Amino acid sequence: MKWVYIEDVGEHVGEDIEVRGWVYSKRSSGRVRFLIVRDGTGLLQATAYSKEKDNPIFKAFDSLTLESSVIIRGRIKEEKRAPGGYELELSEIIPVQIARDYPITPKEHGVGFLMAHRHLWLRSSKQVAIMKIRHEIIRAIRDFFDVEKKFTLIDAPILTPAACEGTTTLFETDYFDEKAYLSQSGQLYMEAAAMAHGKVYCFGPTFRAEKSKTRRHLMEFWMVEPEVAYFKLDDDIALAEELVEFVVQRVIDRKRPQLEKLERDISALEKVKRPFEKISYDEAIEILRKEGFDIKWGDEIGGDEETVLSRKFEKPLILHRFPAAQKAFYMEPDPERPELSLSFDMLAPEGYGEIIGGSERISDYDLLLKRIRENNLPEEAFKWYLDLRKYGSVPHSGFGLGVERTVAWIAGVKHVRETIPFPRLLYKIYP
Ligand code: 4AD
Ligand code: MG
Repeated sequence: MKWVYIEDVGEHVGEDIEVRGWVYSKRSSGRVRFLIVRDGTGLLQATAYSKEKDNPIFKAFDSLTLESSVIIRGRIKEEKRAPGGYELELSEIIPVQIARDYPITPKEHGVGFLMAHRHLWLRSSKQVAIMKIRHEIIRAIRDFFDVEKKFTLIDAPILTPAACEGTTTLFETDYFDEKAYLSQSGQLYMEAAAMAHGKVYCFGPTFRAEKSKTRRHLMEFWMVEPEVAYFKLDDDIALAEELVEFVVQRVIDRKRPQLEKLERDISALEKVKRPFEKISYDEAIEILRKEGFDIKWGDEIGGDEETVLSRKFEKPLILHRFPAAQKAFYMEPDPERPELSLSFDMLAPEGYGEIIGGSERISDYDLLLKRIRENNLPEEAFKWYLDLRKYGSVPHSGFGLGVERTVAWIAGVKHVRETIPFPRLLYKIYP
């Protein structure tokens, strides 16, 4: 008998097929038995009807418990009232393994309990919907760079000899006789690659030993980082806008059932069309002061401030030209106001906050060396990076988009811990 995935049963109406999955729920009503099976691609209702109590299908049905693995066989027919619109008329139930006392029940569980059972929680229908959306987001990002924009994918190393985004959030490890650090960002390597290929991106896990326990922070997260030679700040911002519009519209197009499962307000996502809102750091400080924040020029725009700013606009918000002093060492200063950096963040709307950070990079050798020294960074480790400013240096720009924060926003999930299969959180590395 043909093994068919539930998402494809519509192509087999009238045929006898086999579905392999797990028990989602079951119920009896008089002489009818209803079994709902999930297989990772959807839910399928299977029914058996008999006048005899000791019918072997009923016996097998009775032995099944929540999350038992099971193979079912029978004929597929259309059934408007069943989930997905099809139903299987059972001819056989083959239990594979009977699950005893599955710990996650339909009752409410605390998040601590669910996180400790993340390996099982992943099976729950909302968690399945989130991971399907995450997959689509990643696929859309790759399609954008590979197909639409013809970028070259360059993989950055994970073990690195120096910091990229500040020395306070480094995970350190022994590397024979030296120290190495888990990568905070592939950016510096992408700068080298952009001088070889023009337009490149990397896409991989990055690590921050951040002692923060907020809904936006993970210790291990995935980031896509494009870098383009000859790009100025405005080109960089335009690329980020195009990427985010592309990704959001793709998810609406291809993952509507999953968005609906999560009760996401799709009309809010439909508004994500270019041009996005743009305000300078100076203007943001003004707005925040009017909102009653005790904030002055030069202060960091933190999580609470981002939440307020990103609730004011329906589209993503570009904040640009942050004070150089609060940004990374590699950022190009604004020629008109050197106290500013040619940098930007993109904040997702509806209070989700920063999803992208980017900038133009310093292209002058002497200025970069000065910045490396001012920041007390090990000059030896950055010799290769300085070389890029000696041999055909050009203006160049790039940005990093955090996948989990983007998933949280698009899927409408409050906390990033549900947007990655196995989150690494402050002091928590199980399972
Ligand atoms: O703003 P960040 O630190 O920028 C960089 O790392 C640059 N080197 C990127 C570049 O220009 N190539 O990080 C970029 C994005 C943030 O906007 C956020 O979405 C995500 O990475 N991010 C985190 N996501 C989850 N948990 C954390 N601890 C994160 N830190 C940053
Ligand atoms: Mg940032």
